[in-house]
Amino acid sequence: MNDTIRTLLNRRSIRSYTDKIPDCKTLEAILEAGTYAPNGMGAQDTMIICVTDPEVRDTVRRLNATVTGDPNRDPFYGAPVVALVFANRERPTHVEDGALVTGNICNAAYALGVDSCYIFRAKEAFESEEGRKLAKSWGVPDNYIGVGTAILGYHKGDFPKPAPRKANFVKII
Ligand SMILES: Cc1cc2nc3c(=O)[nH]c(=O)nc-3n(C[C@H](O)[C@H](O)[C@H](O)COP(=O)(O)O)c2cc1C
Repeated sequence: MNDTIRTLLNRRSIRSYTDKIPDCKTLEAILEAGTYAPNGMGAQDTMIICVTDPEVRDTVRRLNATVTGDPNRDPFYGAPVVALVFANRERPTHVEDGALVTGNICNAAYALGVDSCYIFRAKEAFESEEGRKLAKSWGVPDNYIGVGTAILGYHKGDFPKPAPRKANFVKII
């Protein structure tokens, strides 16, 4: 089977991580793949903030968890790296653009032996006053909103199997 197809079929969302952080070169290659996602009108109006600092990561974790109603839970499942994807809300395609960047990151990660999971609630987390301040401190422009989060690291325990694909998922007319 073709390597790219194998990656797309075998990547899974991982919900338990070791503390090991992927090396810098690997991380950079994964994030670069994010920057090559298809994007509306080729505007590249998205931005990736990759957090490895444990203190900042915990703040981002709390912001995301707060949206769930339980600030103490860990919606990042102990992953040591959190890639936050922001997009310019003035672009009609900003949600699609940001989601594709996040998806590229997850697939590229798997191709390089790094596990991941797409995590929701970036929008709400960075709409909060604390979230907006934090994003500003990273140089994220005011008109950018949180779209997606890709957590990254190495799985702990069993690697999950994919759910069977539903019937009639694809029809070729
Ligand atoms: C937009 C989006 C949001 C998601 N949010 C979460 C999330 O907040 N927490 C989580 O554990 N998984 C989340 N996932 C992962 C999905 O649950 C996962 O992709 C799905 O169950 C299929 O499993 P697989 O990725 O292993 O094929 C999200 C996926 C997408 C595409």
